[in-house]
Amino acid sequence: MRRLEGKVALISGTARGQGRAAALRFAAEGALVVGGDLLHEAALETQRLVGEAGGTALTPGPLDVTDEASVRAWVQEAVDAFGGIDILYANAGAVRFGAVDTQPYEDFTFTLRAELDSVWLAAHVAWPHLVRSRGCVLTVGSTAGLTGSLTNQRTAHSASKGAVIALTRQLAAEGAPHGIRANCVSPGMVDTEGSRGDLLAADHPMRTIARHIPLGRVGLPDEVVGAAVFLASDEASYITGANLVVDGGWSSVLPG
Ligand SMILES: NC(=O)c1ccc[n+]([C@@H]2O[C@H](COP(=O)([O-])OP(=O)(O)OC[C@H]3O[C@@H](n4cnc5c(N)ncnc54)[C@H](O)[C@@H]3O)[C@@H](O)[C@H]2O)c1
Repeated sequence: MRRLEGKVALISGTARGQGRAAALRFAAEGALVVGGDLLHEAALETQRLVGEAGGTALTPGPLDVTDEASVRAWVQEAVDAFGGIDILYANAGAVRFGAVDTQPYEDFTFTLRAELDSVWLAAHVAWPHLVRSRGCVLTVGSTAGLTGSLTNQRTAHSASKGAVIALTRQLAAEGAPHGIRANCVSPGMVDTEGSRGDLLAADHPMRTIARHIPLGRVGLPDEVVGAAVFLASDEASYITGANLVVDGGWSSVLPG
């Protein structure tokens, strides 16, 4: 028995990285996936890959998770196509790193908008449909929301991801009377196009981080998505308000 059979899953950021892995995995578990990304062509390629693997996915149009009209159109397309929404997986995000004294305010607000406002906005718009389905919300936090870093200057990112974890707990509270569960998955360092472009790049001080991760390596998108499938499935029917950390032990074990 597939674990998400017939569930309508809205997944943002499906052009690449964890979002593409999520689209493929959720569809393989029987979900009807509605994807979306700023990178529309690449998101359509994900849709094609899902179809090739025998799954169902729809990618209505370019999605900007920071734009209310765009999010509303995305949610409406899902409802029109499949009759409702069971799962919201707010995965998409974009970050600008920088230290508190040198980062331009514009970069701080860009990061908050892309990583935090985007999650609230998707939940806000999808909520009435989740009430109808007694559905669930998955958010994506980060170990950056739990710890500081000596090698990565990331005040905005830490603030937004910490807030995503807190927002998820409040969604759990507001959702409980409606049978809605809300949980967060917090990855550590994961090998994706996003991280390869900065933190894992050859000239970044964090590139050798695997040495300090207890399991000795960075994670794979599928390892994060596996946790998300579990949280979205009936196996997690009594779990809400949780933050499931998927980081190879990075945030739990001090290096020394
Ligand atoms: N890779 C890591 O090490 C890591 C660690 C912790 C948390 N995360 C989180 O995991 C999630 C996925 O990250 P990833 O590593 O797959 O990153 P990625 O950069 O490879 O993919 C993110 C996707 O989101 C899309 N996106 C960005 N802004 C958007 C917007 N405004 N509207 C629509 N789509 C938008 C991008 O185009 C891209 O396809 C993010 O929330 C990220 O913060 C990643």
